[in-house]
Amino acid sequence: MRRKLIAGNWKMYKNMNETSQYLNELGSFELERAEGVLCVPYTNIIVVRDFLGIDGDTRRLPLAIGAQNVCCKMEGAMTGEISPPMLVELGVEYAIIGHSERRSVFKESEEMIMRKVRAAHDVKITPIVCVGENYEQYNQGETADVVKGQIESALSDLSADEVATSVIAYEPIWAIGTANAATPEEANEVIGLIRKYLSQLYGGEVAGKVRILYGGSVNADNLGDYLGQSDIDGALIGGASLQAATFLQMLQIADGLNEACLD
Ligand code: PGA
Repeated sequence: MRRKLIAGNWKMYKNMNETSQYLNELGSFELERAEGVLCVPYTNIIVVRDFLGIDGDTRRLPLAIGAQNVCCKMEGAMTGEISPPMLVELGVEYAIIGHSERRSVFKESEEMIMRKVRAAHDVKITPIVCVGENYEQYNQGETADVVKGQIESALSDLSADEVATSVIAYEPIWAIGTANAATPEEANEVIGLIRKYLSQLYGGEVAGKVRILYGGSVNADNLGDYLGQSDIDGALIGGASLQAATFLQMLQIADGLNEACLD
């Protein structure tokens, strides 16, 4: 059974003090069925790690640390980059790769994204691979083709087992930070297509294990509608993850909606 995953993407918000404040505001809570991950700016990772006191399986809060990017190389002359082993050293377990802001603002190519996904797996960091169409492509009915192309390329250097443990986030670009979210049915349809495509490429068993999230203007009011869909395994949440109380509420919604995992 796929565990629901709620991933907060802080983007370039919050300094170290604000990060400590946020973590304190979360208070103490438990998650029985869902998983939570906070993808914070690099400079705040150490604050989250120290707060969580990650030590083997024990930690102060049931949260994992995520990065928002990672270099495709293990070391080298790569000014300004952060390597996969550096993230591992900080307790990072997830990394967002190929976010639309990285693709558009920083011109990350499909090949670069593929290499980053490979590099993440090389150090056992779970990639959260972002795919999604822009508004024009959406209007032209090209969503399925765009998303399939991105997936085929991003996962092309992975074994089937590595694909099974990867996370995919379907984030239509027109829905990110716009309050113009895809409807739950629309998102579920594309995510269903993604799973079908994965099944063609890697077989049904692998496709059944991959967690596929929806992202784009998710908030505490609409999260339950997404998670109630057949193929949506969680959410990648930007703006609404910036308030501790809202993030906590969303974790709890996901935890309560995951009854099927008890089977
Ligand atoms: P949003 O961002 O929730 O603010 O739309 C989502 C994302 O960019 O991952």
